[in-house]
Amino acid sequence: MTEHVLIETANGVLTLTLNRPEKKNALTPEMYEALGDAIDNAADDPNVRCILIQANGDMFTSGNDLATFAAVNAGDNSRNERRGASALIQALGRAKTPVVAAVNGRAVGVGTTMLMHCDLVFLAEDALLTTPFVNLALVPEAASSITLPARIGHARAFSMFVLGEAVDAKKAEAWGIANAVVPLSELRATARKAAEAVASKPPSAVAITKALMREPERYLARMQEEGVHFSAQLKTAEAAEAFAAFREKRAPDFSKVS
Ligand code: COA
Repeated sequence: MTEHVLIETANGVLTLTLNRPEKKNALTPEMYEALGDAIDNAADDPNVRCILIQANGDMFTSGNDLATFAAVNAGDNSRNERRGASALIQALGRAKTPVVAAVNGRAVGVGTTMLMHCDLVFLAEDALLTTPFVNLALVPEAASSITLPARIGHARAFSMFVLGEAVDAKKAEAWGIANAVVPLSELRATARKAAEAVASKPPSAVAITKALMREPERYLARMQEEGVHFSAQLKTAEAAEAFAAFREKRAPDFSKVS
């Protein structure tokens, strides 16, 4: 349990609300685990026919908590005892229940890659999607090394991953990442209406349709492969420089790392 994720069920919809606005909804191990457990448990809950992910505050999420990454870089191994991000991304990868996302403001890193596992995505006009893994000396996760190019094409995905290209709401809709862009004031109602519509459909037909459209085993295998590289990169000198730069509010300098 964490106060940073609000969980409630009504009208067949399990709503998961990111609730750490003072840190821009940066995701901690506790938050990942609360989200992942809720998504896993939904599969066996007859009251839940659709999951809705939304966020409090002025952005969806600033991605993984960088203090956690920096601690690993500095040799803190306590993260190894937790499932952390894998709890969420694996739950999304194998989810049987449809997932709807309502994204306002920035969606950084896993905030964007998780959208590749959502079945309907609604963006507010101020949404801005970024996957700055390489800028942080890291590599793609959440199976995004296959799901993002599959959705938007290699060249666009490479630009997002390696150059850190930011994709605004209009572009994301045009690229097939989202169903619709709506004014911020209409975001939650639009996404909820869609989630309730999904929840009202014949459940087996919905579940089979989703299952036929997804490749969970492939995603989980790729997550593992990405995770090996991600964990190794977290401990590098180039990552130390990237995390120090964020902490010190300056641009990183990778010219001296070998
Ligand atoms: N991890 C930990 N703390 C974070 C964070 C993150 N990913 N993102 C923001 N925060 C914290 C800031 O350190 C700041 O804390 P403070 O008030 O104690 O100083 C607070 O949240 C507000 O963030 P701030 O940077 O002032 O907000 P902003 O609106 O100017 O900028 C972002 C928002 C998202 C552009 C910027 O915070 C950012 O670039 N964050 C890092 C994103 C990132 O690289 N994530 C990892 C992806 S793999």
